Amino acid sequence: MPTKKYTLTNVATGKSSELEALSPTIGPDVLNIAPLAKDHGLFTFDPGFMSTAACESKITFIDGEKGVLLYRGYPVEQLAAKSSFIEVAYLLIYGELPSPAQLAEFGRSITRHSMINESLRRFYNGFHHDAHPMSQVSAVVASMAGFYHDSLDINNPRHREIFAHRIIAKMPTIASAAYKHMLGQPFMFPQNELGYCENLLNMFFAVPCEKYAIEPVAAKALDLLLILHADHEQNASTSTVRLAGSTGANPYAAISSGIAALWGPAHGGANEAVLLMLEEIGTADAIPKFLAKVKDKQDHTRLMGFGHRVYKNFDPRAKIIRETCHKVLEKLGRADNPLFELALRLEEIALRDEYFVSRKLYPNVDFYSGIIYSALGIPRSMFTVMFAIARTAGWVAHWQEMISDPAMKIGRPRQLYTGKTPRDYVDIETR
Ligand code: CMC
Repeated sequence: MPTKKYTLTNVATGKSSELEALSPTIGPDVLNIAPLAKDHGLFTFDPGFMSTAACESKITFIDGEKGVLLYRGYPVEQLAAKSSFIEVAYLLIYGELPSPAQLAEFGRSITRHSMINESLRRFYNGFHHDAHPMSQVSAVVASMAGFYHDSLDINNPRHREIFAHRIIAKMPTIASAAYKHMLGQPFMFPQNELGYCENLLNMFFAVPCEKYAIEPVAAKALDLLLILHADHEQNASTSTVRLAGSTGANPYAAISSGIAALWGPAHGGANEAVLLMLEEIGTADAIPKFLAKVKDKQDHTRLMGFGHRVYKNFDPRAKIIRETCHKVLEKLGRADNPLFELALRLEEIALRDEYFVSRKLYPNVDFYSGIIYSALGIPRSMFTVMFAIARTAGWVAHWQEMISDPAMKIGRPRQLYTGKTPRDYVDIETR
């Protein structure tokens, strides 16, 4: 219930409106500005949504000052230590941790839905061999609407649930098909006896002519990365999924839009960009020269994997991934990883530098994730696809939350128009 009220007065006319501050369960109050347009004909101007809460949500909470991230109230550190990606996906979608029976049933359903239609699989042949896998994945996901007419009624809760299970189940299959297409290797079918991450690794790295031994440490590391990337409240791709979904578009179209939005280097594409940056820097003695470029406002270079719209403190996910990097590299026998050493040194220098300190720029989730992916043998161009597999759980949860809300409205922002005022058309002969 609203507790605080603010008064907005137009000093010219003396007309006042009372604005209510809505209180969340945790976090800062949110001013309900709906009366502004009605009472004063006013819109608010907030480029980049720096101070706009676009919706109400019960899924994920972030305190950017304290570096806190909660999924349905559970700290991400606890989930990373004790849970699994499949359990986290259940938690995000259904709102509660599953009972053992619910978890087993959810796992079974995800396993049953992991194959893709053979016609869908033939789509990959239409892509050039070096098409970026994100373009393949977003196109194939968008095409799925053409295959599941039986369960596309967004107002039917059971249809929505089938979609949720289907897309989470098929994302690893879709991603690995893109990878195999790039390599020119035969597609590997999902194996029902394998867990989600084991299956993902198997579809990536197995070939029909040889058995592939899945390393448990690799599957565990992958599971952890998927947990940490599973949701992050109203980020750009999730907001895209919500906006596309708010039109009543089918959910595959909405998720495909989210995948496209995730691809950008300011968002999910940063993990790929970090590795590229580390390779470009090359050695620790080149760090000062690189940071000078980053700090030069005429140069558009950014320290990739650093900074975040919400976190003005350590991103809790980055802390966990950095620790995991040490363990995974050691267990995989790749402890002397020069890129990891370089990243550690780069972080250390940046965190002491006035430029980054004064702007509260800390390593984010993507600073170290690519190093683990590389150690697992996953190529750079697939990093953002891995992020998309994980974030599908969050996108689905947000889409479900939005569609099942009876008060849902189409998302339709307004603008500050700074174009021409009305003028008369000029005939081409006289221009
Ligand atoms: N390197 C250098 N300067 C930076 C960086 C960076 N990575 N990030 C922010 N700044 C500076 C920026 O130039 C600005 O300086 P000034 O005040 O002098 O103009 C100030 O810090 C504030 O930056 P901003 O661009 O207004 O901040 P934002 O909230 O709009 O951008 C961001 C957030 C994540 C897009 C940005 O920090 C960035 O581009 N980081 C690098 C890309 C990256 O790692 N993205 C992954 C984000 S986490 C994963 C995900 O959720 O997708």
